[in-house]
Amino acid sequence: MAKAQNSKNKATADKTEKTVDKNEAKPSRPKKSATKSKTPSVAQSKTGTTKKTTAKKSTAAKSKTVKSPTQTPAAKSKTAAVANKKTVRRRGGASDKGWKGRLQLINKTYVELDGKTILVTGSPGFIGANLVLRLLKEMTSGTVISFDNMNDYYNPALKEYRLRAIEEAASKSPVDHLFIRGSIADADTTMRIAASYRPDVVVNLAAQAGVRYSIEHPEVYVDSNLVGFFNILEACRRYPVEHLVYASSSSVYGGNDKVPFAVDDKVDNPVSLYAATKKSNELMAHCYSKLYDVPTTGLRFFTVYGPAGRPDMFYFSAAKKFVEKKTIRLFNYGNCKRDFTYVDDIVEGVFRVMQGAPARKKGDDGLPIPPYALYNIGGGTPENLLDFVSTLQEELVRAKVLPKNYDFEAYRELAPMQPGDVPVTYADSRALEEDFGFRPTIGIREGLRRFAEWFYQYRFKLHGED
Ligand SMILES: NC(=O)c1ccc[n+]([C@@H]2O[C@H](COP(=O)([O-])OP(=O)(O)OC[C@H]3O[C@@H](n4cnc5c(N)ncnc54)[C@H](O)[C@@H]3O)[C@@H](O)[C@H]2O)c1
Repeated sequence: MAKAQNSKNKATADKTEKTVDKNEAKPSRPKKSATKSKTPSVAQSKTGTTKKTTAKKSTAAKSKTVKSPTQTPAAKSKTAAVANKKTVRRRGGASDKGWKGRLQLINKTYVELDGKTILVTGSPGFIGANLVLRLLKEMTSGTVISFDNMNDYYNPALKEYRLRAIEEAASKSPVDHLFIRGSIADADTTMRIAASYRPDVVVNLAAQAGVRYSIEHPEVYVDSNLVGFFNILEACRRYPVEHLVYASSSSVYGGNDKVPFAVDDKVDNPVSLYAATKKSNELMAHCYSKLYDVPTTGLRFFTVYGPAGRPDMFYFSAAKKFVEKKTIRLFNYGNCKRDFTYVDDIVEGVFRVMQGAPARKKGDDGLPIPPYALYNIGGGTPENLLDFVSTLQEELVRAKVLPKNYDFEAYRELAPMQPGDVPVTYADSRALEEDFGFRPTIGIREGLRRFAEWFYQYRFKLHGED
């Protein structure tokens, strides 16, 4: 059973619980308005006490708590109407570059986000939380639902921390935010969320991530990444959406040695179960696009990093180990290259892609031409692991996480290649740039600087843990 909570008052929400009539029509959409406000990113969250106080205040100010996903479409329409009355902001950056006007020429349907209900699974995970913050900042009205099982693959305190940042942002946004705790692998819960809220756009980021973990815990990957994704597809089929965007991964390229990796390269030789589940997601999505006309776009993310990122990822665990005076291991003797992508660049890509759904069209046989698309999102400049570590070290010193005289050499060990790992990842993201007018811009120096500064705050000022 899923637990839902959000930033509003529980008593009110409890009153909204009703049985869902699955045949009830979708509510009409509220009119658009143009707005903008400053929303803190996860990284920008203030220090412990200040943040807690603000978050608490905001929770009271903008509370809408639903115990379980049984809010009716009628209730949803009320929510949207309330949202529309909130402060009007001006739209920002990403939407002003003219790429939207070209969507029709490339067989895409423009998806207006304002006034809509957006379901983001895997928020408050790393990428999901950052995406939700962006949506709360950019949208002028509507509802964003975060759906996550808050599993303990890494310390859930970090997810709670991100959730607080979301709640704080929601308190200043004209958009409503709702958090539902539950698993996409639970068909019943997933279907009830779809039936109750009828999302217009679904972004599926919930998954068991990590290549190495899949070697020891394969069953979790089958559960979340295959069964869970199947449930998402079924939900999108039964309660049609304008667009389903989902996370795939650069790991589908396995040991391919043709670089850069392009989406039409052969990816039939996964070297980890994680990669196999992500490739399967692409195949399953294609099938649902073809059979049921569900517009889907898969995004192959390349090594995403940034503040409040995933502690299991190299840059984060290395920072932690340096602080704890433990040895970091550089696999393949440091001779790996990774196409690191800063999280804001990923979010920019997802945000744009959400608004350009593959168009629904019929073929000569009267059947759907699958409204299906797939893109890479990667920084486009693979970094040698040793260079990456040097930059990380410099930035950790600059941010005062480590002293200037820290003996990095004493805490570095060169180790052989790990099973499931690949020597190089390198994204060809030209298709994304051509279709959505965007390519990642944030380099390693700037990205690691922001990470190191956040790490200092989080670890030494907030007494948080990873
Ligand atoms: N971070 C990267 O470098 C990277 C690279 C390629 C692909 N991806 C993909 O991007 C997506 C987001 O990754 P992330 O880095 O934010 O990871 P993350 O682990 O921080 O976020 C994933 C979230 O999904 C949740 N989750 C897992 N299983 C679930 C389930 N069954 N039901 C509901 N929630 C569940 C987790 O609790 C977590 O909060 C994932 O699909 C991941 O595979 C990430």
